[in-house]
Amino acid sequence: MAMTDRYNIYVLIHKGLRAWMCDVLATVGRMDPYDVEDVTAGLGKVRALLAGCESHLLHENEYLHPAIEARCPGGASAAAHDHDHHLRALAALESAVRAAEVADGSARAIAVLRLYRELAVFIAENFEHMHREETENHAALVAHYSETEVFALEQAIVGSLTPEEKMTTMRWMAPSAAPHERAMLLSGLRLNAPRPAFDAVVSLVRPFLTGRDWDKLAVALGPMPVAETRTGELAAA
Ligand SMILES: [Fe+2]
Repeated sequence: MAMTDRYNIYVLIHKGLRAWMCDVLATVGRMDPYDVEDVTAGLGKVRALLAGCESHLLHENEYLHPAIEARCPGGASAAAHDHDHHLRALAALESAVRAAEVADGSARAIAVLRLYRELAVFIAENFEHMHREETENHAALVAHYSETEVFALEQAIVGSLTPEEKMTTMRWMAPSAAPHERAMLLSGLRLNAPRPAFDAVVSLVRPFLTGRDWDKLAVALGPMPVAETRTGELAAA
């Protein structure tokens, strides 16, 4: 099997992260610094993203980097270096969030714009970093691990997530995937998760799918949990 045909453990989670980052950056860009309610909601979204980025980074450190290093010494050193930098950037972003939180009036407008710019730079760096992981780290992984071993690594990461982390991950990952990837992701979940958990994920994800994408998912998966269709009637699609 050619390397390009091998399952890429990074692709779907990175698609979700990219979508999440863009969504939060746009939220901060349009945030009204003179509206306390708007600022509170927006900063809450930034903090959730920062927590998600840290969790993702730590899981890669704990599971993927040791696996790469075990069979390809030095293979994860560039990504590990990026991660150290990102941890410092995350701490600086939390300080920028805090500065926006405690300021008011025109000082808050300045603090919010500063946060927006710092977040944009962090996201830009992460886009380049994720590209390196999806190409270089993926190549190192599949050169030294079988398909079964890569799946086992993924299952170890998934098994280490809290229920809240799992739901947040699916919230961004499933709607950001291509239809065939989404079908693969959710059919795997249906096989491995308790039915109520699968139903909860489908309910969480569906509002973020277009009608066309929902129809494709329903065709791929067959009978789905009873849910409101976009025209309002109940359907076991
Ligand atoms: Fe990473």
